[in-house]
Amino acid sequence: MAGRLKDKVAIVVGAGSSGPGWGNGKCTAVTFAREGAKVFCVDRKRAAAEETVGLITKEGGEAAAFEADASNNASVKAMVDACLAKWGRIDVLDNNVGIGSTGGPVELSEDEWQLVFDVNVKSFFLTAKHVLPVMEKQGKGSIVNVSSIASIRSPKGVSYIAYNASKGAVNSLTLAIASQYADKGVRCNAILPGLMHTPMIDFLAEQYAKGEKDHNQAYDKMIAIRDRASPTGKMGTGWDTANAALFLASDEAAYVNGHLLVVDGGITVRA
Ligand SMILES: NC(=O)c1ccc[n+]([C@@H]2O[C@H](COP(=O)([O-])OP(=O)(O)OC[C@H]3O[C@@H](n4cnc5c(N)ncnc54)[C@H](O)[C@@H]3O)[C@@H](O)[C@H]2O)c1
Repeated sequence: MAGRLKDKVAIVVGAGSSGPGWGNGKCTAVTFAREGAKVFCVDRKRAAAEETVGLITKEGGEAAAFEADASNNASVKAMVDACLAKWGRIDVLDNNVGIGSTGGPVELSEDEWQLVFDVNVKSFFLTAKHVLPVMEKQGKGSIVNVSSIASIRSPKGVSYIAYNASKGAVNSLTLAIASQYADKGVRCNAILPGLMHTPMIDFLAEQYAKGEKDHNQAYDKMIAIRDRASPTGKMGTGWDTANAALFLASDEAAYVNGHLLVVDGGITVRA
């Protein structure tokens, strides 16, 4: 362990992944632990949180699993209380939960819009609500919010209006918290991942390929489209998100506050 988060307690919300493989939250939890943090792995699916804890403890790291719905106030309060009861402090909050949803304003239902905002935005508000007083009391803390380049770009031909708008709200929430808490020793930054190959994307590719005559070919086509759209010729991975989160969580980023860190291989600098 290099110890960049030595003696720190980190909560990773959405620390599991929605399918087999390495998602942003799972990679982040493991990376934090490898750098010496005690990691409180939270997911609405207990088995997903436990899987991540298993990966960490197998490597000799320290972690605990907790089941919580990050969009529910009582559940988030219980999460914070449980982490404090176990380890007595919270140095890092990594907000990683998020769901995708396709459709423009005409196609998308009101219920789907609300669901996306509850999971992608309300959850970040609630975790901040309960963690900020703890960090303020400590005089120190770092919040890392996982947004998306979808908050600043809407490629032609792909509509996901609720996702775009929800991630835009995550950016605004991040900047407002950064400003309000700067003089209290608490930093708040966001990561804007680009096209990353995570289980969430495998799931979407599966959806796309469902019912196609040649399922595997359709699946590969979807993955190839995303690889081709990446300036490097390959999508990023959860480890790229995790390494950015590690920097923002660590004291190396002590003077980095209110920053929206794009991690996209350069896709947003292209026309
Ligand atoms: N994969 C990409 O290409 C990409 C790109 C940009 C941003 N992101 C963002 O990265 C984050 C994670 O993405 P991922 O691809 O690793 O996804 P993932 O679905 O594999 O992991 C997310 C985890 O969050 C959990 N979760 C969902 N809702 C929850 C809730 N209400 N309470 C507690 N846990 C909940 C899920 O069970 C899952 O284990 C999301 O915010 C997503 O929007 C992903």
